[in-house]
Amino acid sequence: MAVLETIKNFFTPTGFAEPEVIVPAPLCEYEIRPLTLDQLPDVLRLNIRCFRNGDNYTKYTFEYLLNEAKTLSYRVVTPQDELVGFAFVMVNESNAAHLTTIGVAPEHRQRNLAARLLSHIEDALRKREVGTIMLEVRVGNTIAQNLYRRADYTVVQRIAKYYNNGEDCFLMMKSLY
Ligand SMILES: CC(C)(COP(=O)(O)OP(=O)(O)OC[C@H]1O[C@@H](n2cnc3c(N)ncnc32)[C@H](O)[C@@H]1OP(=O)(O)O)[C@@H](O)C(=O)NCCC(=O)NCCS
Repeated sequence: MAVLETIKNFFTPTGFAEPEVIVPAPLCEYEIRPLTLDQLPDVLRLNIRCFRNGDNYTKYTFEYLLNEAKTLSYRVVTPQDELVGFAFVMVNESNAAHLTTIGVAPEHRQRNLAARLLSHIEDALRKREVGTIMLEVRVGNTIAQNLYRRADYTVVQRIAKYYNNGEDCFLMMKSLY
């Protein structure tokens, strides 16, 4: 996903080469809360773990998003207030929303957290009378596509060579009414 591709390309993305060993975290009750600049260091750490292919946004992009009045941002936290998920959405001049990024810590995945984040965002957008949400996803990112399809997003277009490495993206949309 790379709605802020222009901004992102301005900075050097960070990718990881070493594989990470994932041990599932103990089960717990999670909460979704607003995400603010105070959580920037935690978001940066989690972002790098979620986007090991180099798709992670830089500190400057997150600062921009967190300072932008048209951005809604949420975090998933454990009872110990550990940040284990995040999502950012921007609302444009036409009052349509764009999911800019979403990620869940590997050891907390497949616990419905991303689906809950999406649902939370969609409720917040409906309250603001935003009628449409869209996003881009790599054609190779079938896990994220499953998440979005399961949440009733539909592929409306395939955009050729959308990403720096030449990979295409699917543009997906959902009507919120
Ligand atoms: C994509 C991502 C956010 C999903 O987070 P998650 O909390 O594990 O997802 P959920 O548990 O809410 O799963 C919701 C749906 O997504 C799909 N899904 C999630 N993990 C999957 C997996 N490993 N394999 C296949 N489908 C999967 C399923 O359809 C699932 O619904 P189901 O459990 O009813 O089958 C997470 O894998 C991630 O952070 N990936 C790296 C960052 C990324 O790719 N972000 C999206 C960029 S466009």
